[in-house]
Amino acid sequence: MKFGFFDDAKNEYVITDYNTPLPWINYYGQDGFFSLMSNTCGGYSFYKDAKLRRITRFRYNNVPRDYGGRYYYINDNGTIWNPGFLPVKTKLDSYKCRHGLGYSIFESEKNGLKCELLCFVPLKDLCEINQLTLTNNTKETKNITLHGVIEWCLWNAVDDQTNFQRNWNIGEVEVDDTTIYHKTEYRERRNHYAFFHTNVKHDGFDSDLDTFLGLYNSWVDATAVQNKKSFNSIASGWAPIASHMFNITLKPGEEKTIVFQLGYVENPDEEKFEKLHVINKKRAYELQEKYDSKEKVMKAFKELNNKWTNLLSTLHVKSDNDKFDRMVNIWNQYQCMVTFNMSRSASYYESGTGRGMGFRDSCQDLLGFLHLIPEKSRERIKDIASIQFEDGSTYHQYQPLTKRGNADIGGGFNDDPLWLIAAVSQYIKETGDYTILNDPTPFNNKEGSEKPLIDHLRASLNFIITHKGPHGLPLIGRADWNDCLNLNCFSKTPGESFQTASNFESGKAESVFIAGMFVLYGKEFATILKNIGLDQESANILKEVKDVEEATIRYGWDGNWFIRAYDAFSNKVGSKECEDGQIFVEPQGFCTMARIGEDLGFGKKALDSVEKILTNDYGVEILHPCYKEYHIELGEVSSYPMGYKENGSVFCHNNPWIVIANTVVGNNERAFDVYKRNCPAYLEEVSEIHKTEPYIYSQTIAGRNAKNYGEAKNSWLTGTASWTMYAASQAILGIKPDYDGLMIDPHLPKEIKHASVERIFRGVKYNITINNNATGTYQMLVDGKVINGKVIPFEKIQKDVNVVVNI
Ligand code: BGC
Ligand code: NOJ
Repeated sequence: MKFGFFDDAKNEYVITDYNTPLPWINYYGQDGFFSLMSNTCGGYSFYKDAKLRRITRFRYNNVPRDYGGRYYYINDNGTIWNPGFLPVKTKLDSYKCRHGLGYSIFESEKNGLKCELLCFVPLKDLCEINQLTLTNNTKETKNITLHGVIEWCLWNAVDDQTNFQRNWNIGEVEVDDTTIYHKTEYRERRNHYAFFHTNVKHDGFDSDLDTFLGLYNSWVDATAVQNKKSFNSIASGWAPIASHMFNITLKPGEEKTIVFQLGYVENPDEEKFEKLHVINKKRAYELQEKYDSKEKVMKAFKELNNKWTNLLSTLHVKSDNDKFDRMVNIWNQYQCMVTFNMSRSASYYESGTGRGMGFRDSCQDLLGFLHLIPEKSRERIKDIASIQFEDGSTYHQYQPLTKRGNADIGGGFNDDPLWLIAAVSQYIKETGDYTILNDPTPFNNKEGSEKPLIDHLRASLNFIITHKGPHGLPLIGRADWNDCLNLNCFSKTPGESFQTASNFESGKAESVFIAGMFVLYGKEFATILKNIGLDQESANILKEVKDVEEATIRYGWDGNWFIRAYDAFSNKVGSKECEDGQIFVEPQGFCTMARIGEDLGFGKKALDSVEKILTNDYGVEILHPCYKEYHIELGEVSSYPMGYKENGSVFCHNNPWIVIANTVVGNNERAFDVYKRNCPAYLEEVSEIHKTEPYIYSQTIAGRNAKNYGEAKNSWLTGTASWTMYAASQAILGIKPDYDGLMIDPHLPKEIKHASVERIFRGVKYNITINNNATGTYQMLVDGKVINGKVIPFEKIQKDVNVVVNI
């Protein structure tokens, strides 16, 4: 069952039924001001950091769900309704929510009154615009009231939800003309405030929640709205809000537009106040002036659209499979941008108060987005590498506002260091620019500790080389990519964090997955070293790679698949000898990508086992059989009910590894089959089962053992986005940036006979035509001439390069 449709011409998903199985959301913002917006107008905004600088309030486990957002109430002769259906839930005569790239448009109508609400964060400014247009489509004059309202968060989202003995006292606002300023804590140590402004003079306002709603009322039956009035309340403590009210008369056919603006301002310390207790509003006025008319708003909206059109023109495919095209061209790239901005911090599942930017996560996110923003990626790489320690180990996360490693979570995830090599090598392949290796980058953000970035990569590899276990395989530490495989944790205490506890440091538990990573990225680093003339060092690294490869062949192979790990007692994890968890997906993907045991047919066999044992209707499950009981020696993986999360769901993030691995061994049909199984556009028709957004990947889809088999959770902030983008563009289409040029090595399934791809690579446009005749042979013509090999040597030229590849 569908709840909307893809409008590919506009790059939009159009939700036509507000009763979606879960809130279907969108993101706005690029550089500092970010917002989440659901199809019912729910969500919230923050500046840079969803924990430390939350602007509006949202209650995650609220009842009912998804209440709290930017609410516009229309009271039309006693019928009260909202353009996004919530909070009042009045049945609308028509409703559309168009989620586009960095914006949403709500188009609703009730009793002949049409409302169009355009919401976005402009490219250059720290604000969210909500432009609301009402049109009277009846033959009668309408006298309505309109209330717009948002609720402020007291900045620190954790304190805001916990420290009520203080919170109920500190809320402060100022109201000035048509603007309500939120200035809690500004009189002491903060130098920032927010405002909710309108470009038209209001007929009343409220800034105190209890007054606006009525103490025992809710967003559904707000007193002010029901009584068509405002109380001009000035919040003092309790819950500050911002509400504007308008009395509007609309003649038949008449239309009126009001621009609402939610803004954020920082003042230098010496310019904080105009006079005692009065905030300096100069910067706010400047920001308000920039969007004080429909013309200015539409101009900014156009700029946003143009930015996206330009960005997406970097990679564009037209094949005979429109679902594949729309994912690659629009939604998958868009999701990569969101994961680039948010890492795993703020979604409808990540509260924004727990995690900041993950070392591992953000490195991987770059793989999907690097081709679009190489400059920003370089900055990001530096921020990430700066939380690494000199021995190569790393903090696991950093807060985006401070860019400091998060000491509460600490480090010890032994896969982390290697992801830096993945990100940097991809950067060099995309840009051809090796100078990044010289970028002075500190360790643990310590001033004076800066070393060229290449030393960080050396430290990364060295950490693995110096941390091996009894089988010569890398030690796992707290966990590897699978945060829940906690082999030194041994937790008995309820509530103890599996991610930080280590009650039995065995110094023994090893990861075959990290072995696969080491081989793959070790070879990559050796290539980089060779390319910059460090042949001896390159050879040394290859020798280390060989050792780990041999150890994996010897101790990491179970006969039909790769073993997952050795636990604290050197027992196998992910082996046929185990009762549960006999096979895990991660090493099958990574060790095959790293070509470990290729001559022995390991990859092919492993992938056959993946197909036979792990594949369900919605993709590849993370492990099988699911753990029935809690295993103290395995940790969080066995804590989840069967079929959920790391205990046997389709953990979508690692499915693209199987796609890529299948292309590595030449299983093109199977690669595409796995790709399609959990690709959201292919699941649109079963949205009532899948439940999350049909335009966005989710982290997990409940596995066969789960009660809700097929139900997805944790949409948006998942490494699935970047890895799938990588798999679709670099493995299936086979358009791979390489050190010396662009490699074209397609692995298309039979059902895609033809694909035309436009790819801008290092400033040169390549028009690539792939004809898939399934011949098993390969021929490439560049500007009409047959060339040898699969790489088009890079040349900086002014004209387009035309490429035809016949396979
Ligand atoms: C989740 C993992 C996640 C980890 C760290 C666990 O509870 O299952 O998917 O990576 O927390 O936040
Ligand atoms: C989600 C985390 O963000 C990611 O870092 C981790 O690799 C996966 N969960 C698997 O546990």
